[in-house]
Amino acid sequence: MDPWCQDSLCNGGGFCCAPERATGSKLRKFADPLPVLPVKKPWFKEDGKTYYHLTMNQFKQRLHSDLPDTTVWGYDGMYPGPTVKVHTNEQVYVKWNNCLPDTHLLPVDQTVHGAYPDVPEVRTVTHIHGACVRPESDGYPEAWFTKNFDRTGPYFTRKMYHYENCQQASTLWYHDHALGITRLNVYAGLAGFYLISDENEKALHLPEGEFDIPLLIQDRSFNADGSLYYPSQTDPPVPGLETSIVAMFFGDTILVNGKVWPYLEVEPRRYRLRLLNGSNSRFYMLFLDSGQQMFQIATDSGLRAVPAALKQMTLAPAERAEVIVDFTNMNGREIVLKNAAPAPYPDGPKPDQDTAAVMQFRVKKRITRIDTSRIPEVMNHIPPLSFKDVTRVRKLTLNSVTDQFGRDLMLLDNRTWDDPVTENPVAGTTEIWTFINVTMHTHPIHLHLVDFQILDRQPFDVSRFTEKKELRFTGSPRHPDTEEEGWKDTVRADPGEVTRIKARFGPFSGLYVWHCHILEHEDYEMMRPFYVLSSQTFL
Ligand code: C2O
Ligand code: CU
Ligand code: CU
Repeated sequence: MDPWCQDSLCNGGGFCCAPERATGSKLRKFADPLPVLPVKKPWFKEDGKTYYHLTMNQFKQRLHSDLPDTTVWGYDGMYPGPTVKVHTNEQVYVKWNNCLPDTHLLPVDQTVHGAYPDVPEVRTVTHIHGACVRPESDGYPEAWFTKNFDRTGPYFTRKMYHYENCQQASTLWYHDHALGITRLNVYAGLAGFYLISDENEKALHLPEGEFDIPLLIQDRSFNADGSLYYPSQTDPPVPGLETSIVAMFFGDTILVNGKVWPYLEVEPRRYRLRLLNGSNSRFYMLFLDSGQQMFQIATDSGLRAVPAALKQMTLAPAERAEVIVDFTNMNGREIVLKNAAPAPYPDGPKPDQDTAAVMQFRVKKRITRIDTSRIPEVMNHIPPLSFKDVTRVRKLTLNSVTDQFGRDLMLLDNRTWDDPVTENPVAGTTEIWTFINVTMHTHPIHLHLVDFQILDRQPFDVSRFTEKKELRFTGSPRHPDTEEEGWKDTVRADPGEVTRIKARFGPFSGLYVWHCHILEHEDYEMMRPFYVLSSQTFL
């Protein structure tokens, strides 16, 4: 053993024996096949109910053939977790069990809300992102639990979650949501797909089975020994703190379904790709280097009204887009899915050679059976936006202040997580939420429980607003981008702009959260509770 690596010298950050960090560029691109995510089998079915059991644990997994095995967290011994496939209105019960070790894989900052020294270091609570679910099964950040439910958080609700799936076909995902360590739990590997299908979708003859592929896109950095690298300090470090949360984190390699820069051999036919940005902070602007179009068929929360042909699309953390890519007549081609998004978004540096690559498609498989799939002309009915049902408009600022250590602290409407609930829509009513972003970055704002539509974005005079609290627009409103047309649960609120969304709250009432989905922001105060009041209260 290295004499300099005795415990007494390795307090906390472990810098004296910290392995040398490998740079992403040392890893070969497109060296490993894309992992096919297995579909989770139900535990049992009874009385029209489907029961699942998923267990969180720590294990080693090969994330690139040139890297030693990496210790990760996952569900059922897999990172990403197995794909859960359900049908609209299926009554699904899931027991999410925690079998993780007592110490965290990654540096916990005990100055961050909910991660203070009085709580266990390893806490988990699973949230299905995009789910129409009662509050007690939503995975409230303070409803956490430890191994075998030994300790539970102040809002602990139940051991078995109930998902009613009262929503249309969509690509959802489950991920951990424990207060103050969500960024670390997700980075360690706690994420997976939750796919809802319905009759309308089935009737469309979209590519299915092995031609319907979920792609979880995430960035990671590695130490030379293969372990996950996540910073223990901001740059420069915070004096007096061993561990500090960072304002954002960008990995130097891109993984899809848990492999660094994988490749997929495809047949010359149409494929349905379900793209999910599961990164902590990184945005993607995705395009194919063949220059070909992708036909977007779905947004976050369901099918679009009609497909849209796009050469490039932007996905912020937690956003999804489903596309049909046509490899017909592309025999022998190697096509790279690329990324052009700056990090931080939107005004940071462009991606380098490494982070500009996501994965590769090799059109070299023989066609196994005739492609009878279609790109449908009409897919869904999306009600046109109207204002007459709106009962309330809320104006909410996205702002940043400085904490006692000089670090950036991102806030929603100048409030912290512990401040009393201020957003309390009545179930069944429709509201417009207006996000006034006075920060320098785009924040992907996510609301639990509801799907919404984006109304518009409009630039405003930031200094006038911060000095005089007066909202003066400096340009005309913009329509949402093409890839945002339809039902959404996460919206990019761009800097210097007012972003408006319209949501109908319900069907359930109770306590939920809304937050920025940059996980480093969510963990450090850019998250707020909201409370849906039951309409009965007002009768
Ligand atoms: Cu994707 Cu509140 O979460
Ligand atoms: Cu969510
Ligand atoms: Cu943010």
